[in-house]
Amino acid sequence: MSDLVASDQLMDRLYRRQRHVYDFTRKYYLLGRDRLIQRLNPPAGGRVLEIGCGTARNLVVAARTHSDVRFFGIDISSEMLETARRLVAREGLTSDIRLARADAATFDPALIFGVPDFSRIFVSYSLSMMPGWQAVLERSLSWLMPGGELHVVDFGSQERLPGWFRLALRHWLALFHVMPRDDLESELTLLGLRSGALTVFERPYRGYAQYAICRRLAG
Ligand SMILES: C[S@@+](CC[C@H](N)C(=O)[O-])C[C@H]1O[C@@H](n2cnc3c(N)ncnc32)[C@H](O)[C@@H]1O
Repeated sequence: MSDLVASDQLMDRLYRRQRHVYDFTRKYYLLGRDRLIQRLNPPAGGRVLEIGCGTARNLVVAARTHSDVRFFGIDISSEMLETARRLVAREGLTSDIRLARADAATFDPALIFGVPDFSRIFVSYSLSMMPGWQAVLERSLSWLMPGGELHVVDFGSQERLPGWFRLALRHWLALFHVMPRDDLESELTLLGLRSGALTVFERPYRGYAQYAICRRLAG
């Protein structure tokens, strides 16, 4: 399937049943999400946005980890958001976490949340499902406050893992419309430089994952 046909219907079809087992199953292979949440370290009174928040599992962990912060999440799938809303309510976090259905490629946080900028934005295992992912990064960078950070974790190139594993993983991921972004480091570094932000990049778990922090220079 082409990179450009991902859509709300596609994501809803994909997650209609999976959302019920999503959090239990994904903890074994969406590696690095908790590390990202730990390293967000948002300032007190700050605002944090997750793009492609899925079941809101990350937002709930982040809200429990970092206090005195307001959290926002968007996702294109109304199926995922139904699970997300239930989880946030069950955890008693409805006043800390706001959710909205939106396409990462087109939404405007000032319109849907009344919030123009954020101290932290993160994208966890979602860029690899988003057509036009470079534009998503560019738009995210434009919403960072001075000193703000964009954190990205996703599937890496698996360059230090056996070739057979890499092939099998890529084949399996394609079934779920997931395409690892092998040029994430070069794209993000360039986009960062254009918007006055510096990028640090890691390839943890022998390249299974990739992790980037892009920090907008203060003032
Ligand atoms: C693999 S899940 C990751 C969910 C969550 N971030 C996590 O780490 O568990 C990818 C999510 O991205 C969402 N997504 C895909 N394309 C999107 C788009 N264009 N705009 C917003 N969300 C999108 C999907 O609906 C899905 O919930």
